[in-house]
This record gives sequence, structure tokens and C-alpha cells, in this order.
Amino acid sequence: MSPTTALARNMPAKILFVDDEPDLESLICQKFRQKIRTGEYQVFFAHNGVEALSTLREQPDIDIILTDINMPVMDGMALLAKLNELVTIMVKTVVISAYGDLGNIRKAMNGGAFDFLIKPINFQDLEITINKTLCHVQQLKENERSRQEREEKLRQSEAREREKAIQLELALQNLQRTQSQLIQTEKMSSLGQLISGIAHEINNPVNFIYGNLSYVNDYTHQLLSLITLYQDHDAHKYPEIEALIEKIELEFIKEDMPKMLSSMKLGAERIRQIVLTLRNFSRLDEAEMKPVNIHEGIDSSLVILHGQLKAKPNSSAIQVIQEYGDLPQIECYACQLNQVFMNLLSNGIYALNHYDKKGSPEQIKNEPRTITIATSMLNREWVRISFKDNGPGMTSDVRNRLFNPFFTTKPVGDGTGLGLSISYQIVVEKHGGDLKCFSQPDQGAEFVIEIPIKQSARVQMKAS
Ligand SMILES: Nc1ncnc2c1ncn2[C@@H]1O[C@H](COP(=O)(O)OP(=O)(O)OP(=O)(O)O)[C@@H](O)[C@H]1O
Ligand SMILES: [Mg+2]
Repeated sequence: MSPTTALARNMPAKILFVDDEPDLESLICQKFRQKIRTGEYQVFFAHNGVEALSTLREQPDIDIILTDINMPVMDGMALLAKLNELVTIMVKTVVISAYGDLGNIRKAMNGGAFDFLIKPINFQDLEITINKTLCHVQQLKENERSRQEREEKLRQSEAREREKAIQLELALQNLQRTQSQLIQTEKMSSLGQLISGIAHEINNPVNFIYGNLSYVNDYTHQLLSLITLYQDHDAHKYPEIEALIEKIELEFIKEDMPKMLSSMKLGAERIRQIVLTLRNFSRLDEAEMKPVNIHEGIDSSLVILHGQLKAKPNSSAIQVIQEYGDLPQIECYACQLNQVFMNLLSNGIYALNHYDKKGSPEQIKNEPRTITIATSMLNREWVRISFKDNGPGMTSDVRNRLFNPFFTTKPVGDGTGLGLSISYQIVVEKHGGDLKCFSQPDQGAEFVIEIPIKQSARVQMKAS
């Protein structure tokens, strides 16, 4: 770069003269009058090293320092040493000294000075030296600027890459959620179809039985009364009949038959109830949001899970404690909310059945295993439904990952890890509610659903 190019810049070249000679300032100003006036040079003066450093503190972007060597307070050599310590300052130093001081000039050059000039100053020579030094400083500054620009670009591209990685991660999570949703929807829809199909198939034969049972009951009573009447009058005359009465234990049959019939009636009623429950649970016909009694949904899920609540060889039955509050009908997708109840209940049952509790077998067997279902009004607009078990609970690590799709601690084949992530989507996204878990190891687990009674209340704060 030529000196003219170096000087052809918007900012003036900042030059600091350090010399204890009183006349130097006016001499310099006079010689460089033109350049100072046009703003090409901006000159500063200091009488020793200390003053020079203080000027430098006020003007850290000074380009060139031209310094005498022999000065009071702090000489040129000491100033040069101080300047070398200031790594952040990009300044070049030119030493100016008398011809007899050549030894010191040489030392200064070895100590990092950029150039030197001999006194008395030849101003033409001075100008050439200033321009040459400026050119060098400019080049250095240019290099530094482009280094900073490269760094900045690198930083920006790193930030862009990071942003892309975050977006990819989000897209992956979205994909996983959609995948899990699809699997679960598919699972639930085929389960729903299966359940409603079976319910329909069982319904008719059960109705045959149930519908005829009252007649069978009446007829049996009539036949038994006929036999009794016959016994009272004639039976003792015929030893064969007497013998048969003995043999078949007629008295017992008379006693047992009505009991049998009433227990058959009870059984048939129960099957009808289950069929009703299954239909209620699948609710395939109710894809719309409708106000429903959610207690019915919870009860249906309990009926379906009934078999899993029974006592096992090494553990007592799971007791379900229902603490239902007085709730209005809740506007919701009943079938989906039933799925949530089902997921929470089956998780609780699984946890209780796989709880390796400490204590004697007798103690464990006698200790009640419970699932408490409590419902209540959270405020005028929202309800709270809690499922609490006294099972193994969980660590904070498990608790933090509960709602992630495919997160499971169950062995392969026992769980897909989708139950809670789907439940979360149903409660939070489909119903604008909240699903939270409170649990500590060995302290059981409580899952709390909070949902608005009406979907119009979704936007209202639940704390209001
Ligand atoms: N009541 C609970 N007590 C202890 N741990 C629980 C309870 N409920 C859930 N968990 C933990 O949360 C994990 C995730 O539950 P989630 O219902 O999402 O999946 P899963 O039950 O493992 O499988 P899936 O429900 O898909 O068959 C479980 O594997 C279990 O570790
Ligand atoms: Mg589950």
C-alpha cells in the first residue's frame, strides 16, 4: 500500500510527539500546518514518558508515537518498555535522538521500536518516516479488522448452525409425537372397534338369558310348589318315589334352586352391565365434544380393569377408594378422556403389582394396596381429578421424562412408553387442561388432571 493510500482515509492519522524540547510543538505545527488544517494529521504532544502514557489513555487509537530518548521523569526507553506491555494498543513507535546516542537508538530498535530518526530533525525525512509507519499501522489495523470480521462471520455461522440443530431437534420431537399419536390413535380406534364389536355380539345372547330368567324363576317356583303339594298328599304311598326323593335330595334342591336362579340372574345382570360399560367406554359414536359425567368414565375403566385389581398369591387385592366430589357435567371428548383414566389406572396397578416392598411376607400381604381417585371443583370453571397410588413412586429422573413419547421403564413387551405422552396431549392440547405428577421414591405417585368444565373457559386462568 502506498503512503498516499494509507493516508487517504476518513480519519486523521493520530501522531503523538514525546520530547522535552519546548520549541518542538510550534515547529511541528508550523511544518505540518497544511496537513493538520485539512485533517490529515492530528498531533498530540507530551514532554516525557509519563505524559505520553496518560495521553495514550485518553487517545487509545493513536497510530504513531515519535519519542525522544533522553527525557526527564520517564525516558524514551522506559516508555518503549511500557508500550510493549500494552498488547491491546496497536501503535508504532519511532525513536528520535541525537547522532551521538546511536547506541541507545540501537537498543530501542531491539526493544521493539519501528524506526528511528536523527536529530536535528529533517522534516522531509520525518514526513516520509511518518507516512511509511502509518502505512504499516494501517495494514496492521486492516488485518485486525478482517480477522475480527472473519471471527464475527464464524460466530454468526456457528449461531446459524446451532439454530438449525435446535430446529432439527424440534422437528424430530414433533415427528416422534405425531408418530406416537398415530400409533396410539390407531391402537385405540381398533381397540374401540373391537370392544364395541364384542359388546354388540354379547348383548344379544345375554338378553336371551336375562329375558328368560324371570320366566324360568316363575316356572321353577310353580313346579316346586306342585311337587310339595304332591308330596303332602300322595308321595308316601309309593316307596319308589320316596327312594328317589331321598336320592336326589329333594329338600336341598328346593332350597338351592331359587338361590341358583337368583345368582344366575345376578351374573346375567353383571354381564349386561359390562356390555353397557364397554359400549360406554368405546363411545365410538361420540367423536364430538359433549358434556358428560366423568365419574361414569372412571367407573367404566374400573370395570374393565376389575380383574387386575384382585388379590394375587403374594399380595392383597388393590383397594380402590373413590372420593368423588359433586361435579357438573364436563364438556369433553369422552372417549379420549376415558383413555387417560385407563392409562393412569393401569400404570398405578402395574406399579403396585411390581412393587418390591421391604418387610415380611405376612406384613406385605396385610398391608393395603390402594388407588385413591378423588374428584373436586378447583374453582367455578375448572375441575380436578386425582389418581393416587401407594406404590413404589419414582425418582426425579423418571419423573422428568414421564411424558416423553416412548419413555418407559418397563421390560420390552410390557409397555410402549406412550400412555402418559398421549394422556398429556389429550389433557393439555385437546382439552386445554393440565396433567401433573407428584412422586418420590417409595412414596407412591399422584397424577392430577385439571380441566375446564366448559371449553369456553379454556382461555380463562384456572387460578381465577
Ligand atoms: N403410578 C406410577 N408409579 C410409578 N411409576 C410410574 C407410574 N406411572 C407411570 N410410571 C412410570 O412412567 C413410565 C411411563 O409411563 P407410560 O404410561 O407413558 O408408559 P408405559 O406404562 O411404560 O407403557 P404404555 O403405557 O405405553 O404401555 C412408566 O414406564 C413408569 O416408569
Ligand atoms: Mg402406561
